Amino acid sequence: MSEDTAAKKELAAIKGTRDILPGEVEKWQALEALARTTFELYGFRELRAPVFEATELFEKGSGATSDIVTKEMYTFTDKGGRSLTLRPEYTPSVVRAIVEHRLDLEGAPMRYYYMGPMFRYDKPQKGRYRQFHQVDIEVFGEKDAAVDAEIIEMAHALLGKLGVAGTETLVNSVGCRACRPAYSAALRQAAAARRADLCPDCQRKAETNPLRIFDCKVEACRTIAAAFPSIQDFLCQECRDHFRRLLACLDALGIPCRIDPRLVRGLDYYTKTTFEIVSSHLGAQNALLGGGRYDDMMKDFGGPDICGTGFAMGIERVLSMAEIAVPKRKTVYLAHLGEEARMAGLELARWLRSNGVECLVEYKDRGMKAHFGRANKLQADWVLIVGENEMKSGRFALKDMATGRQVDGPREELLALLRTN
Ligand code: HAM
Repeated sequence: MSEDTAAKKELAAIKGTRDILPGEVEKWQALEALARTTFELYGFRELRAPVFEATELFEKGSGATSDIVTKEMYTFTDKGGRSLTLRPEYTPSVVRAIVEHRLDLEGAPMRYYYMGPMFRYDKPQKGRYRQFHQVDIEVFGEKDAAVDAEIIEMAHALLGKLGVAGTETLVNSVGCRACRPAYSAALRQAAAARRADLCPDCQRKAETNPLRIFDCKVEACRTIAAAFPSIQDFLCQECRDHFRRLLACLDALGIPCRIDPRLVRGLDYYTKTTFEIVSSHLGAQNALLGGGRYDDMMKDFGGPDICGTGFAMGIERVLSMAEIAVPKRKTVYLAHLGEEARMAGLELARWLRSNGVECLVEYKDRGMKAHFGRANKLQADWVLIVGENEMKSGRFALKDMATGRQVDGPREELLALLRTN
């Protein structure tokens, strides 16, 4: 390997991360803009939290027995000897921010959204990255299952605007602290009977948190777990009523869904509702988004006893299915002829830009023909010519590159023309 190749390899982007380049980034911007306008219609406001947090936040929040915490966190010790973690998800950060700033006392709707990178150390594959991006929304203080349905409907509204079709909505209830212990005990018993056939990881999970066996990706474990008791048979009256109401509200909103009693989701904090929107077009990583209710996290963080519900959408996965038409931006190429014209051109470009026109200025000295060649290469829509004559007369020539039509006039007239085309 040559030194150059070795250096390139050493400096390349880290496995599981990727650059989002111009050409693709416009789709990201369109998704982000649509997400913002959609969420704000439902009363959400943006809340931006740091990229790294105390490791304990995720251990306590995401849950000590979740795969995310046991295997996937980017944890490091900083120079002050503190254990920090690049956030693997956003939910614990929002809860922390509410407790820290006592946002619950402000009286504003506790509805927050955020878009940004998350970090998980898992084996990269199609639809699974180590740095990936989520659109996350969270609602606090609303116990009613109607709110769970409302956010599922909001997710559908956004996916609809993004042209994502052919999805399926899965829902379940994972019960609460009152009814889940009995279910966990039943699962533990079922797992003990099949212990020898389970992978070592699931054998461990059977002891620590048998619900997590449903997260296992090993085919044999999945087959065994499919025959385990269903949580639906263990729900207490309150959880059963909540789930029934969720189904009724989804029905009222015209959202078809399928009950999946194995949908326990990979995080420890869920209570009652869990849901995912999946697509068979995505392959193994089929969830476009997932979420649910978490009524205990805030009080477990030492804050007020306020319930929460929310979801996070994987931007990479959604974009792989989205139909977003990005309108081409119109640009003017400013061709100057000679040093003096370059100065005048600089000022003309400033003026055009201050009036909202995208303008490219090339600083190299070129003849007219070379300028047109360059403008063509840059896919400029118009060429604006600034030469000695133009400077003297205060009239400039503007050529439409698509039609070849050329007009000349004072800059105000040309601006009006650019604005209407
Ligand atoms: P999650 O299911 O872990 O939930 O992630 C949500 C979404 O993020 C997934 O459905 C998927 O689209 C995307 N995603 C997750 N991991 C990756 C990855 N490695 N590469 C690409 N995309 C990925 C949560 O994170 C919860 N915080 C959701 C939530 C909010 N629950 C309540 N509120």
